[in-house]
Amino acid sequence: MADLKLENVAKSYGEVQVLKDIDLDIKAGELIVFVGPSGCGKSTLLRMIAGLEKITGGTLEIDGVRMNDVPPANRGIAMVFQSYALYPHMTVRDNMAFALKIAKMPQAEIDAAVEKAARMLQLEPYLDRLPKALSGGQRQRVAIGRAIVRDPKVYLFDEPLSNLDAALRVATRIEIAQLKEAMPERTMIYVTHDQVEAMTLASRIVVLANKGIAQVGTPLELYEKPQNEFVAQFIGSPSMNLFPGEVVETGATTVVKLDRGGVARSSVPTQPADKGLKVNIGVRPEDFVPAEGVEPIYTGRVDIVEALGEVTLLYFEAEGERDPIIAKLPGIHHDRRHSEIGLTADPSKVHLFANGQSLLYR
Ligand SMILES: Nc1ncnc2c1ncn2[C@@H]1O[C@H](COP(=O)(O)OP(=O)(O)OP(=O)(O)O)[C@@H](O)[C@H]1O
Ligand SMILES: [Mg+2]
Repeated sequence: MADLKLENVAKSYGEVQVLKDIDLDIKAGELIVFVGPSGCGKSTLLRMIAGLEKITGGTLEIDGVRMNDVPPANRGIAMVFQSYALYPHMTVRDNMAFALKIAKMPQAEIDAAVEKAARMLQLEPYLDRLPKALSGGQRQRVAIGRAIVRDPKVYLFDEPLSNLDAALRVATRIEIAQLKEAMPERTMIYVTHDQVEAMTLASRIVVLANKGIAQVGTPLELYEKPQNEFVAQFIGSPSMNLFPGEVVETGATTVVKLDRGGVARSSVPTQPADKGLKVNIGVRPEDFVPAEGVEPIYTGRVDIVEALGEVTLLYFEAEGERDPIIAKLPGIHHDRRHSEIGLTADPSKVHLFANGQSLLYR
């Protein structure tokens, strides 16, 4: 059992600040996923928790004990890296046993711990092989096994699956989910670039951006109620479409007149004083539906059609927009190419942002 508490945690390399104001409470047994753009500090934050990187501001507590100056080996943490970093000249068994041997654990206990981890990870047939005689997925499982045998209170994973091909990623992701289920009291922090991993594994996702935390929440909270435009566009694929406009009617349903024509209705409530407010409305590609008999939010000519089988992505001709407008319709729609379509969305699916912040959270 281990709770983690990060208070005002910051990191600078010399003059360069990488992270600041990181406040995070992690409960024992949670599986927390860190996501964010490349270079935003995910690995740095994980390495600070592990003790591999100095914390330059704030405090880290594990189970109420300040950890800032505690050496990595005494934090009760095991980290699994993206590069498996196995010892090439040691068998799978010896790789997994290594840390326990260093810690001078009795041989019988070492054997029992290795056998148990090998069983959990289905590595029993490979215990006497060298890493070079394993597949990528098997090597990654050995790296996870090395963490398990130490029976840490907290597991840290830094993009553990990114070296694997698509099918192996899915298989190993499911194994990690099962592993977590088998150890419900263990706390895990997991860094990934993969949306599906984040959405399926996390009890809560932490979105890092601009040196801080953009939002913390359950996967569906982030998807359904993003606090800001950054999270709105970061979570979900393809990204949420944004359209600038102005509030023309307020109340339980807000009506927004869009700058390039079109009208949007949103279930996000507004006050009379919001009339005239400059906003961006947000609609996820999968929430667009063809507008029939209502004034569309967006009308455009389809430039590119990507038929994925279960869904079709329609990319509209950009007219000065930074990103293309994208709609994701169920089924197959080859015939839509070059045609003009009006799109709308249910008001409950229309997000409202002013100055980058969601109006839901005022
Ligand atoms: N030793 C260092 N000295 C100076 N800057 C560093 C050092 N190590 C990392 N950084 C900077 O800190 C920032 C955060 O790096 P970090 O590796 O944590 O990013 P990340 O979110 O894990 O990115 P990725 O998704 O690409 O793995 C980067 O801008 C990086 O250049
Ligand atoms: Mg990283």
